Amino acid sequence: MLFLPDGRQMKAADSYTIREKKIPSLILMERAARTFVETVMERKLDLSNVCVVCGSGNNGGDGFAIARLLLEKGGCVTAVMAGNPDHCTEETLRQMELFREAGGTVGNSFEEGEYSILIDAVFGAGLSRRVEGDYLACIEAMNRSGGVKLAVDVPSGVSTTTGEVATSAFRADLTVSFQCAKLGCVLYPGRDYAGEVTVTDIGVDTSVLEGDREAAYALEEKDIKTMLPKRRPNSHKGDYGKALIIAGSRGMAGAAYLAALAAYRTGAGLVQIYTPEENRTILQTLLPEAIIRCYDFFDEKELLRLLNWADVVNIGSGLGTSDKSRRILQTTLENVQVPCVVDADGLNLLAEHSRYLSRLPHDQFVFTPHMKEMSRIVKKPVEELQRNRMEILTQFTGEARITCVLKDARTCICRQGEHPYVNLSGNAAMAKAGSGDVLAGVITGLIAQGMTCFDGAVLGVYLHGLAGEAAREEKGIYSVLARDLADAVGTVLKRLEE
Ligand code: ACO
Repeated sequence: MLFLPDGRQMKAADSYTIREKKIPSLILMERAARTFVETVMERKLDLSNVCVVCGSGNNGGDGFAIARLLLEKGGCVTAVMAGNPDHCTEETLRQMELFREAGGTVGNSFEEGEYSILIDAVFGAGLSRRVEGDYLACIEAMNRSGGVKLAVDVPSGVSTTTGEVATSAFRADLTVSFQCAKLGCVLYPGRDYAGEVTVTDIGVDTSVLEGDREAAYALEEKDIKTMLPKRRPNSHKGDYGKALIIAGSRGMAGAAYLAALAAYRTGAGLVQIYTPEENRTILQTLLPEAIIRCYDFFDEKELLRLLNWADVVNIGSGLGTSDKSRRILQTTLENVQVPCVVDADGLNLLAEHSRYLSRLPHDQFVFTPHMKEMSRIVKKPVEELQRNRMEILTQFTGEARITCVLKDARTCICRQGEHPYVNLSGNAAMAKAGSGDVLAGVITGLIAQGMTCFDGAVLGVYLHGLAGEAAREEKGIYSVLARDLADAVGTVLKRLEE
């Protein structure tokens, strides 16, 4: 599991380590600088003309320590104080002094030019506002300069909490992050500015943050084997759950197919699709393993019987937004007694009829909106959501008491009382129609097999991304179809079995 703190959390862990573990801040700085320089040396980078640009905070202190250690390695190194020297922290002043004592010179303004390595230590975890004025000019001049560009901990200008770049930020080829990758370096656009991110261990104790429910995590492949539902030799289909997929409308049979196929591929024991009559033949042909229950008119009693049958319900993929669809959604939301995944048109209808949100009969709902759907639900512009996704998601899941999967290049999963998760698997091949239907089906399949809504959502998103990676291997970045993703779930699960 990867821990992805923001700047505030990382500084809390730093302070805890200094206070409780009695490791002075200068020692932490020295460790940070040493591991940074080790990374430079491992990559055999050219030390003939290195420039380290430092701010007045402790990120600048790290920068001066790095400059000194590179000097000791025989590099030709200059350092620049980009901040106000009168605002330097005690540690940064000390590191500047040590660099000078080692023979280094400190300039007071950055000269745009060609360097062998250009190191950004202007702001790190402490960025607290927009970068403007001389700082902005300096960062832009650094971006125009030549050389291998390295960032210390976080590229200056990237918000560690949101990944937002308010004005401009240093564009790194490589960011060496201390102890943990910072949340802002995995969320976009920060991810683009960070370049490759490598993490070094400097002995900061992050255990103090375990109780901080705002601290985000990400799954890694090694975590998921133990999370997967087990299949016992002595078992039958009933042991792996009955999934009811309420999906499809005229011309949208594919959405129902993809969600149902994905639920089966993920391991659900029995899948039943509830869909309009016109989809019967196509769905029966495409997926003969599914039970197809069709409707011409909305029959509340029949729907209630089906809801009663299911161990998990998935509603919304290609459902349409007609009045019939609305009544189906309303009846489902108000009566379902088992976990329920709401996707696509289910969410669009819900956004139009937000009173349904206050009538959910229990807290076992998973919503899987993309940015546009989420923007309709919370009635905020997409841009605001992109800037502030974690905060808005946390507030929404607190009020609605549900699990919410906010789909994007970095999908985030939130539930009150749980750490938020950011998904790091997947790629741009998955940006295709039907990809979301597959995801909803994967999550449904995991919940059918007994996973909780939150665990099923976190694991489902990760598996879906791995399936995207496997499908891309086979078909290339342009040609992956949603059905390839559903099939690739099988490839990934088989690999994990081995
Ligand atoms: N424009 C102008 N100034 C700004 C802006 C901005 N946009 N944003 C922030 N600042 C200022 C802040 O006001 C702050 O200055 P102040 O302290 O006078 O208020 C300063 O820039 C913060 O800069 P940073 O260097 O990013 O933050 P900080 O001093 O907290 O250090 C840290 C970051 C902890 C060093 C981090 O990068 C890291 O983890 N390094 C490795 C570990 C390490 O070296 N630890 C030793 C320090 S221990 C400690 O700081 C508790």
